[in-house]
Amino acid sequence: MADLTINFAGIKSSNPFWLASGPPSNSGYQVMKAFDAGWGGAVWKTMGIPTINVSSRYGGVNYRKAQMVGMTNIELISDRRVSDNLREIEAVKKHFPDHAIIASLMVQTQAEWHQIVKDAENAGVDGIELNFSCPHGMCERSMGSAIGQNPKLVELITRWVMEVAKVPVLVKLTPNISDITEPAKAAKRGGANAIALINTIQSIAGVDIDHFVPYPVVGSLSTNGGYSGPAIKPIALNMVKNCALDPHVGIPISGMGGIETWRDAVEFLLLGAGSVQVCTAVMHYGYGIIKNLISGLEQYMDDKGFKCIEEITGKALPNVTDWENLDMNYQVVATINREKCIGCKSCFTACEDGAYQAIALPENATDRIPQILEERCVGCNLCSLVCPVDHCITMVKKDIGTGMETWKQKTAKGNIPSTFDDELAGGLRHPARQSNPLFP
Ligand SMILES: Cc1cc2nc3c(=O)[nH]c(=O)nc-3n(C[C@H](O)[C@H](O)[C@H](O)COP(=O)(O)O)c2cc1C
Ligand code: SF4
Ligand code: SF4
Repeated sequence: MADLTINFAGIKSSNPFWLASGPPSNSGYQVMKAFDAGWGGAVWKTMGIPTINVSSRYGGVNYRKAQMVGMTNIELISDRRVSDNLREIEAVKKHFPDHAIIASLMVQTQAEWHQIVKDAENAGVDGIELNFSCPHGMCERSMGSAIGQNPKLVELITRWVMEVAKVPVLVKLTPNISDITEPAKAAKRGGANAIALINTIQSIAGVDIDHFVPYPVVGSLSTNGGYSGPAIKPIALNMVKNCALDPHVGIPISGMGGIETWRDAVEFLLLGAGSVQVCTAVMHYGYGIIKNLISGLEQYMDDKGFKCIEEITGKALPNVTDWENLDMNYQVVATINREKCIGCKSCFTACEDGAYQAIALPENATDRIPQILEERCVGCNLCSLVCPVDHCITMVKKDIGTGMETWKQKTAKGNIPSTFDDELAGGLRHPARQSNPLFP
């Protein structure tokens, strides 16, 4: 049986699943309930000078019949007194000594940082997470993402914290920045033991088109918030990968952003995370999702022969490279399974208007199955993505009888287009060029 325990930068936990800092980790009652359900750790709702929140504070993004594929929140850090939070942390640690509690903190001055770090440690926390990442409200007060967007400040404040910290320190990064590795490297320079990413993405959930106010509405006004949930997973995965691949970062990564299923979690681990955190999915479905997260991960590890989490962490990284290293001679073509096709024509429409006009409709009225014109198909994948039937369109490798050649190799040989009308252009066989009378 696979071993799910982790030692993440010195923080031990019975499994890699932690509650991310947010509403589900706002009180002792909640965190105990989560630990009872099976969560390995919890990053407590960010503490600092207590805030006052507005109502309403969440805006949902639904897509067709799927509810809350994303959520925008304008909630601030904890609105509860630090002393109440710390008393509850102490009590939870007594009941659950082997579970990880990480205190998320956000204050301003060096003296405040020193004080709150010591207070959290005295309450018995296993680690500390520095919230340099909240992208609404707190950044207007020069905290949160206002720090995370400035690598010099990330380094400085991390140093302040490391002057007094005795437990491992994670720096939580904001995705609202062009290059996530810059604050990640600054955190490392400041002495952080690990990084956590991503916090939410600056966003507006939508607009009430009758009253002309964006969501969430507070009276007759609104403001931008932070986007979370399944919709942000691709952005989070890419940022985790960027940090994991950068040799100058080189510290453990706690990954989050849109994790809802064990598969999502495995993807984060494969791209370099050593632990994973979940907020929005718990807000949506409750602490009980941990059962499927754990059983799914265990089953996956057993099926693949992974004995421990460290064996998964970063396993996909050797297969990620820059575009210039991809094989330009690798070719696939779309193939339709006639047994499965329901004749809906979605593939035809997509390829006709959005790709390479490489799908023909049958001339015979009794046959509803489209036909792939292999000589035109560039293997872009679009038709297989829009096809509503599973495994109906597959991309099949085509042997074009040449070896591998990358853009980098082509460039070295001077074998790339360099003028506007270069005959080395890739799209010379495009149908519009060859057969359309409008473009002689
Ligand atoms: C309502 C709400 C409140 C949040 N509050 C905090 C917070 O106090 N501190 C923090 O570091 N992150 C906070 N977050 C961000 C989450 O911890 C997490 O980084 C983000 O939501 C992405 O993960 P998810 O898609 O699993 O929610 C909050 C997120 C939500 C949705
Ligand atoms: S893979 Fe792209 S080009 Fe080929 S048939 Fe499908 S949509 Fe058209
Ligand atoms: S989209 Fe799929 S099911 Fe629909 S016509 Fe094309 S191949 Fe058939």
